Amino acid sequence: MYAKDMSAMTVREITDNIFAVGVIDWHRAVFDELIPLPDGTTYNAYVIRGAEKTALVDTSDPGKEEEFITNLMRLGIGSIDYVVVNHAEQDHSGALPLILELFPMATVLATPKGRELLTYLLQVPGERIRVVDDGETIPLGGKTLEFLHAPWVHWPDTMLTYVPEDRVLFSCDLFGAHYATSDLFVADERVLYEPAKRYYAEIMMPFRNSIKKHMERISGLDISFIAPSHGPVHADPSFILDAYRDWISDNVKNEVVVPYVSMHGSTEKMVDYLVEALMERGITVRPFNTGNADIGKLAMALVDAATIVIATPTVLFGPHPKIAYAAFLANILKPKARSATVIGSFGWGGKTVQDITGMVGNLKIDLIEPVYIRGLASGDDLRELDRVADEILRRHREYGIA
Ligand code: FEO
Repeated sequence: MYAKDMSAMTVREITDNIFAVGVIDWHRAVFDELIPLPDGTTYNAYVIRGAEKTALVDTSDPGKEEEFITNLMRLGIGSIDYVVVNHAEQDHSGALPLILELFPMATVLATPKGRELLTYLLQVPGERIRVVDDGETIPLGGKTLEFLHAPWVHWPDTMLTYVPEDRVLFSCDLFGAHYATSDLFVADERVLYEPAKRYYAEIMMPFRNSIKKHMERISGLDISFIAPSHGPVHADPSFILDAYRDWISDNVKNEVVVPYVSMHGSTEKMVDYLVEALMERGITVRPFNTGNADIGKLAMALVDAATIVIATPTVLFGPHPKIAYAAFLANILKPKARSATVIGSFGWGGKTVQDITGMVGNLKIDLIEPVYIRGLASGDDLRELDRVADEILRRHREYGIA
């Protein structure tokens, strides 16, 4: 009973007859069995009450159906005419089958791709789904739903929904943050900045170029509120719009990210030497021991860095598996780094450098000549690391950032 009372508190009005009815998941620790959630998350859903029709925007994660339905009941929802599915991923559509059972007259509104995914992922009957065109509008009576198709933010089905009368943009995962909070609106932008950047890095960064196009369109809207699918609502949208403009830009910063792992200290000695050499040259360095690093922090560091240095020993005949994981992750996140290299130490042989460079084929980088040595680094090896530091500085100056 206590839990239900708490969830009821999550029903709040954003603006005239537009309500937040989503669920807070305070203790979820990981998403997609991949992404750490140090701050939990929320599955946001919204009710828009027009004079004639009522629309529900998104639902909730399937594990949170009870809280979600409780929120709807506490709002006194008698009927739902439309369920807007901005995105078919289950953290937002998981409760959709139950909603369609409870509200048999409700029609789902989705993109063509959304319709296809809902029928496959959740076996929603096709006849319950109405496809909406890009730019199409549906009146609710004093409020209008306007649909903006936004494919590849971050799935191909994604759309955003805009209510022009209230200047509210329901932005789906875009501009979201895995951040459980009791605040309906962003309370402190300085606090939200990191969860929002972490979310961008882990979810949105691979789609930077798609987002650029969608941002141009969004810039033409008059927006008072951005209501994303995760995290608090933005009552001052300029904060998150400005942050995204920075993250998606082609600008890199005078920063080097060094994911590394070391088995017996030889590779770590090289990392320590290079970190100091870069610091002496006025370059910001972020080393991450992938043996125990928060992968989300590594992803965040990759948002702005101009250069990536991957440091690994050779295990048997190739890179350490924990570095292979980090390299694979960097490859799928597609950061905008322009340069990269590999450093490390081997015992008797292997093809580690070749394997690592082969793993990051998605990155548009110029390779700096690696420093891959046998055993413990000494004289000439350390001078080679100075050569790498000099080359990074030269390139950063060429990029206009050092
Ligand atoms: Fe929050 Fe792509 O689902």
